[in-house]
Amino acid sequence: MKITAAITGVSAYVPDYILSNEEIENTLDTNNEWIMTRCGISERRILKDKDKGSAFMAAEAAQKLLAKKFISPLDIELIIVATVTPDHPYPATANIVADMIGATNAWGFDVQAACSSFMYALNTASKFIESGTHKKILVIGSDKMSSVVDYTCRKTSILFGDAAGAVLLEPSTDENGIMDARMYSDGSGKKYLYQPAGGSIIPASLDSVVNKQHFIHMDGPAVFKMAVAKMADVAEEMMLRNELSSEDIAFLTPHQANKRIIEATANRMGIGMDKVMLNIQRYGNTTSATIPLCLTEWEDQLKKGDNIILTTFGAGFTWGGMYIKWSY
Ligand code: COA
Repeated sequence: MKITAAITGVSAYVPDYILSNEEIENTLDTNNEWIMTRCGISERRILKDKDKGSAFMAAEAAQKLLAKKFISPLDIELIIVATVTPDHPYPATANIVADMIGATNAWGFDVQAACSSFMYALNTASKFIESGTHKKILVIGSDKMSSVVDYTCRKTSILFGDAAGAVLLEPSTDENGIMDARMYSDGSGKKYLYQPAGGSIIPASLDSVVNKQHFIHMDGPAVFKMAVAKMADVAEEMMLRNELSSEDIAFLTPHQANKRIIEATANRMGIGMDKVMLNIQRYGNTTSATIPLCLTEWEDQLKKGDNIILTTFGAGFTWGGMYIKWSY
């Protein structure tokens, strides 16, 4: 019997503090109308606690998920954390999260593929389930984007927010779960979206801090052009490969970087915005947390057997699509 990897539970954590467009208007030369029209973002959440990072938010999301599913942390065999803002360069945030939630039987590692991190992690995790070697995996996307955003830059500070989302992955023999996935990358896109310093090329120094090289550097229009094309392409590819028509799709779960990119993807798929999980207006781009946060907010509307298309695009460039038959 064929084993597929099925998402059997979802949960999320968002910090309390709301950074609104109105607050940004007070410090930068921008306005609510520009931000809403160009990006569709009204507010984002910010983790204000200086001593808390991505592991804290990941652990909060994971603990809620375990409680909801009545599962002991001791039953978790593997934890994969998707993040571009790990607590530290090493050890892996996944190891810290395992310790925080008491998952002492689990091994774990981090996956970093910018805004595609969660989908890359979910695809990786699915192989451990499909091979029959693992039965309970936590895949968590968590990013404290406020730690790498330059709040004096109006081009990037409007876009990002902090959050975490977690999914439980288990085996299914019911012909549901992750049915198909296709990941892509093109490293020649590096120059358009990256954090210059903090790695081995430009280690932290006085100069790197003064020159603001530890923040997000982005050529917005270049990223936008590529994201619009690739998210739509991969969504269409998922539909064609799996012989799905627009009517067959229950929901599109897109990475949320810009409302206009999402609309273009829905348009190519021939589906209305009523079938799109869209919460960018309340959270902005939460990088690795976006997709599990959406699934959590829409969980009540999902039915067993629903066809869901996931799409993502991020720095690298990285992008990908996934076809999921919802399992509960
Ligand atoms: N408020 C007001 N004006 C702003 C602004 C802001 N927050 N940010 C930029 N502008 C200005 C620019 O300075 C520029 O002015 P100029 O023409 O006088 O130079 C003008 O608006 C247009 O800037 P541009 O960067 O071309 O805007 P845009 O329409 O491309 O929108 C983004 C900017 C960032 C919203 C858009 O490019 C985008 O969403 N890119 C993709 C982002 C993304 O997906 N990132 C993550 C990938 S996962």
